[in-house]
Amino acid sequence: MSRIGFIGTGHIAAPIARLMAAKGHDLHVTERNAQVSSALQAELGVQVGTPQDVIDASEIVFLCLRPHVAEDVLAPPSFRADQKIVSVMAAVSEVQLASLCAPASDFVQTIPLGFLQTGGCPLAAYGNDRLLADLFEPENPVVKVANEAALNAHFAICAMVPGILDLMATGTEWLADQTGDKDRAEFYTTQLVSGFLTSMHKEHAGQLAAERDALATEGTLSLQMTDVLQSEGAHDALRAALSAIGKRLET
Ligand SMILES: NC(=O)c1ccc[n+]([C@@H]2O[C@H](COP(=O)([O-])OP(=O)(O)OC[C@H]3O[C@@H](n4cnc5c(N)ncnc54)[C@H](OP(=O)(O)O)[C@@H]3O)[C@@H](O)[C@H]2O)c1
Repeated sequence: MSRIGFIGTGHIAAPIARLMAAKGHDLHVTERNAQVSSALQAELGVQVGTPQDVIDASEIVFLCLRPHVAEDVLAPPSFRADQKIVSVMAAVSEVQLASLCAPASDFVQTIPLGFLQTGGCPLAAYGNDRLLADLFEPENPVVKVANEAALNAHFAICAMVPGILDLMATGTEWLADQTGDKDRAEFYTTQLVSGFLTSMHKEHAGQLAAERDALATEGTLSLQMTDVLQSEGAHDALRAALSAIGKRLET
């Protein structure tokens, strides 16, 4: 069991805190957002305090602030050299972290999504991936990346998730227009895709293309779909969005 602190107690901190509490860790969180911190206090018995209180009480500190406030919030409090830091903040670089959290120097940067609370969320890890594996595996697999550029590329892929949800919402609306039943249309579409992905082997590159090719054979409706999406520019649009997000994270 470790003493774990959260600086920034918002959307992403809450599910991580719930998972860490379920694993028996002792938790400390900053007060803001007060609605979230008081809910975690009532539900999990976490200690609530200032950023300095949280740092002083913790062996491992999760940084869950929005990037634009990170400097203001983290500049005044002081860290210890023996502390381990997990940053989930997009676009806050290793160099910035090192300066904000000195003398602490044991870092890992990662990209959690809220569903890690129930497991199955891959965690890209740049830095001390062992720390992340100790905290999150086996429920959430850690995927080590070689450098910050690779981590940022994984952030871009995370942004692909709402893009795909948006496309699925369009497909679901189309289905509901045909059937008149919005609930079943949404259930059918999401279950179809999630069931398919759950059943797939994911260990090796090429599985997505292999599954696609197994479905989209000559003369099939599946091939009509993949051909139209290619020819109408859906893939070019996706690549353009990923590149633009990647560039944004470089700055
Ligand atoms: N949401 C996700 O799914 C997700 C996934 C991966 C990574 N991330 C990263 O996680 C970070 C946080 O995102 P989020 O969605 O959790 O944002 P969020 O809900 O706005 O949480 C940020 C938290 O920081 C608090 N805060 C602001 N100023 C503070 C201060 N001076 N002292 C202490 N706390 C302060 C906010 O409180 P107030 O509400 O009172 O301002 C809020 O509780 C971002 O860097 C984002 O890139 C998020």
